[in-house]
Amino acid sequence: MLVALPRKSLKTNYFQHKHNSFVQSITSSRGLKFKILFIISILFKFPFIIWHTLRNLFLKKKKYLYLEQRKLLEQLQYYGFTMNPRYILDKNTTYRLREDFYQDYQQSININGNECSVMYKPLRQTNIKIIMEQLVANIEPIINSYMYYSPYLKHIFYMYSDNNTIHANSSQHWHLDKQGPKTLKIFIALHDLTNDHGPLTFIDSNASAYLDNSVKYQKIETKKRIHDSEFDQALVGIPSQVINFTGDEGSLLFLDTDRCFHFGSRKSSYSRLLLLIEFGSLLDFKLPETSRYRPGIISY
Ligand SMILES: [Fe+2]
Repeated sequence: MLVALPRKSLKTNYFQHKHNSFVQSITSSRGLKFKILFIISILFKFPFIIWHTLRNLFLKKKKYLYLEQRKLLEQLQYYGFTMNPRYILDKNTTYRLREDFYQDYQQSININGNECSVMYKPLRQTNIKIIMEQLVANIEPIINSYMYYSPYLKHIFYMYSDNNTIHANSSQHWHLDKQGPKTLKIFIALHDLTNDHGPLTFIDSNASAYLDNSVKYQKIETKKRIHDSEFDQALVGIPSQVINFTGDEGSLLFLDTDRCFHFGSRKSSYSRLLLLIEFGSLLDFKLPETSRYRPGIISY
């Protein structure tokens, strides 16, 4: 079961506003300060966590993982990513999504603010329903287990990059998202992806942990992006493999962008269109705010 936070709790109120302002400093902290702030943020959310735990225990039918799903989950836990050769969305769906995107392209809204290397565009409600049905049927227990049994659908967007320009200090450079202890982003290729499409590029969570420590990574303006030369220098002699998300239309990547350093949408020959489905958990640093969530999406 994908937990939909009750709509009441999504409204931005004084408590949430205070909480979110307070935990803002978590993402830019390290070491002991980080641990203390994180524990305080959990205490704030304790009533929500208890409520969802009880709800899961007593009200919801537990779904068990098949052997293949268990392997996928283990890989995700250990490496922070997994690329599933089995497609979640069928060809008809990816075709339909792509066609709808280009049809609506003119009315698209760039909701990303400062970073213009990627444009995020909402999907039509009918398409969200189709995707979520297929997602629930195929991978719901994986999402549940990975996200502390309290996942909620955070975003479901088209992710389009024209790959025309280099943007300074943007997500075209190595970074972590740092939104919580874990996040789960599912990327689905809406066309064949090659190295000429500015692919999403990442390293696994073990190499990322090493890099994090060696560069003392912080989500502050001067340190939130790691340039290639610094990256290469920090990982000299460390077994790490830089992986590009390429593959046929419908290919799928599960990536924890809080645990795995990544970048994407660098200047390339061709544009790139992905579907992004992101799950957060109640252990996220911030509580969800109404302005960032359309209730229709959360309870799809
Ligand atoms: Fe990112």
